[in-house]
Amino acid sequence: MTGASLATRVAEGLGDTRLVVVANREPYVHLKHVRRPGLVGRLTGRQPRTSLSWMQPASGLVTALDPVMRACGGTWVAHGSGSGDRETADATGRVAVPPDEPSYTLRRVWLSNREEEGYYYGLANSALWPLCHIAYARPVFDEHDWREYVAVNRRFADTVIDEIGDGPAIVFVQDYHFALVPRMVKTARPDAVVCQFWHIPWPNAEAFRICPWQNEILDGLLGNDLLAFHLQYHCNNFLETVDRTLEARVDRDSFAVHRGGHLTYVKPFPISIDPGLWTPLQPGRDWQKDVAATRRRLRVGDVRLIIGVDRLDYTKGIPERLQAFERMLERWPEWHGQVSLLQVGAPTRDHISRYQALGAEVKMQVTAINKRFGTPRWTPVIYKHEHHTPEDVGAFYRAADVCVVSSLHDGMNLVAKEFIASRSDDQGVLLLSQFTGAARSLADVVPVNPFAPDEFAAAMDEALRMSPDEQARRMRRLRSEVLSHTVYDWAGHLLGEAVRLSGQRR
Ligand code: G6P
Repeated sequence: MTGASLATRVAEGLGDTRLVVVANREPYVHLKHVRRPGLVGRLTGRQPRTSLSWMQPASGLVTALDPVMRACGGTWVAHGSGSGDRETADATGRVAVPPDEPSYTLRRVWLSNREEEGYYYGLANSALWPLCHIAYARPVFDEHDWREYVAVNRRFADTVIDEIGDGPAIVFVQDYHFALVPRMVKTARPDAVVCQFWHIPWPNAEAFRICPWQNEILDGLLGNDLLAFHLQYHCNNFLETVDRTLEARVDRDSFAVHRGGHLTYVKPFPISIDPGLWTPLQPGRDWQKDVAATRRRLRVGDVRLIIGVDRLDYTKGIPERLQAFERMLERWPEWHGQVSLLQVGAPTRDHISRYQALGAEVKMQVTAINKRFGTPRWTPVIYKHEHHTPEDVGAFYRAADVCVVSSLHDGMNLVAKEFIASRSDDQGVLLLSQFTGAARSLADVVPVNPFAPDEFAAAMDEALRMSPDEQARRMRRLRSEVLSHTVYDWAGHLLGEAVRLSGQRR
């Protein structure tokens, strides 16, 4: 399915039903830049000059849903977090996006620092994120964070209720930031169809049990008509958790939970990407010339290139990857001067001490490896701790011999799919952690266990030695998988199901 065919299909299915997406992260952030006058300007009383720009945040969720919204229209309700967001929105927080080609509405919800600390940095990212990812980071459960989380969920639910007006509506809630919104919306508007996609794993019942607010969270989620995860495995974990925690009837044949006269379907919908965004725009562009330009920009000469692209998050296995790279250089000295690792680590959630510690650890590792092995002509690890545009990331993917995705645990992982979509030359090897959702459908990768450094190092070495023929054989199969299951298929199936449920209501 393409963006255009999805738009037609969903628009036909929706009819006069409003589509409202709720996600913490806004798809477009406006930034305000202030240029202060120089000394002469200050003496002559010149005022500071301000300008506005916009950017798209580094987020799998945004990558996945923005093309869908562009295709179907509707409203996206999100936290207005940019320094220029208020200037660009109207009095109700609404702004038309994409800024250069408006096709849907973004409704921004304003949060105070206190609310953001408790709800986003606290409950969502210091409690639920580590609770759901088995990455051995201990969740922090703080009563104050919980209160802010409840209050912010309420604010978002009220905004949604305002957006849907009196008519029929489908509300599509995203992720662990809003476990309570479905119940709140449902209570006010039992006629609206409420669906949620949980973009991260759902842990097993034993792991979830430590959460002090497990009943409230499960009750909130069971306000949904449809609760979707990436994998059947996560659905099973969720059903098991409900079964052990609440008074409810879990129907394992139809994958549904009956509770208080309400039915919630729990089903898998593996997310994907828009491969079109990762294909070089001009067909017939000179691939070799582009790659040579990227390599010059990176100053890597003609060494082999391994690439890693992640948010700087402890679930992504970045220290493990650096350790494996170092181990490979120890074990196979023939690689000295012959291969560099380009690690892109996009800054994320850096108010949280666990993330600050990770940043410091990665920097130390990079410095140590470069000091130990580097020469005036060769930098073993090139580390870029900054945001990059999708165009830059695409150029990196195309210049790489190997892409490494070494998450300790990951709902899906879209970097793996972006790399594959970028390689229309049928070359390049994907090293993929067994603990990603993506590993379930991508069979022709070199699988890695990021917890086992020696195995991991050997897998890197194997990937670098793979013949071009073998690379092509694997890449062709990987591409056929990724090109035939796009984010439009994901949205089409999920929204199709929502439309079907909405039809049953009428
Ligand atoms: C994951 C989550 C998304 C989140 C993204 C980026 O993909 O599932 O909900 O938006 O990480 O994290 P951030 O905290 O920057 O939004």
